Amino acid sequence: IRKSQLIPFRGVPLPHYFLENMEKVGEFEADKTDVLIATYPKAGTTWMQEIVDCVLHGGDVRQCEQSPIHYRSPFLEAFFPEMPSGLELLAEIPSPKPIKTHLPFQLIPTSFLQKQCKIIYCARNAKDNVVSFFHFDRMNMLQPDPGTWEEFLQKFLTGNVTYGLWHDHVKGWWEQRGNFPILYMFYEDMKEDPRREIKRVAEFLGKELGSKELDTIVAHTSFNAMKLNPMTNYSTIPLDVLDQRTSPFMRKGIVGNWKTHFTVAQNQMFEEDYCRRMVGSTLHFRTELKPGDN
Ligand code: A3P
Repeated sequence: IRKSQLIPFRGVPLPHYFLENMEKVGEFEADKTDVLIATYPKAGTTWMQEIVDCVLHGGDVRQCEQSPIHYRSPFLEAFFPEMPSGLELLAEIPSPKPIKTHLPFQLIPTSFLQKQCKIIYCARNAKDNVVSFFHFDRMNMLQPDPGTWEEFLQKFLTGNVTYGLWHDHVKGWWEQRGNFPILYMFYEDMKEDPRREIKRVAEFLGKELGSKELDTIVAHTSFNAMKLNPMTNYSTIPLDVLDQRTSPFMRKGIVGNWKTHFTVAQNQMFEEDYCRRMVGSTLHFRTELKPGDN
């Protein structure tokens, strides 16, 4: 039942069912208090969404539980026409509100920039990111068929995946961080010390959190808690759309899972390509953590 086809929109491959909405997305009027969460797919979007939601609610996690995370995502509307579009849903939620996007910097609605909205970008090292993306495309019937791991790796390295080349995405946002209020976060840092990173998010959003509230958010947004939480584990989406029997949405949630997927040859080829594409950039990633930090 795979219906998705990637079509370039201003050079960026997007699922064909997004294209008819892109004009309207570009005209979206953000409120100046809205918080944009931007990521390359599978970099920790859902995790960051839940953290921001909790922080905006001042650590009152009961309020976060009332808003299933996927209702903030427009990706189902093409298959469920009775479902309101992501834009329609956003219009109903009072600001300040977190808004998620996977768009590269050059495609986000300009109102976010004109209004100097706060933006949180979350990036994840390319190797773990591609592994997570592979398993996501295996289980998400709205995505193109990934093929084998080897085939998907080739697609990833040529940017023939949804939202295009990882390297351009992470660099594009990195280069803009001095020009706009962008907090650039790393999945690996969040794994290493979630409390420290949640504090950074709160400070960026101008929210003072006490030690107790911080502890509550750390617990509520841990991998295990989010895996059990129907508001964050996407279990409310039918299995013929997100086939969690093939691969769960909350899959591993660690740094370094790439090691069980890459062959030595794939790793070498990946790194050569990586050096070529990232040369001259000050953007650096960690691909492993100390065992206790994972
Ligand atoms: P894996 O597939 O490596 O397990 P996104 O939300 O951008 O789609 O990213 C999904 C990835 O983030 C998945 O990675 C998922 O397990 C991981 N993830 C989600 N919540 C997490 C959490 N609280 N802690 C660590 N990883 C999390």
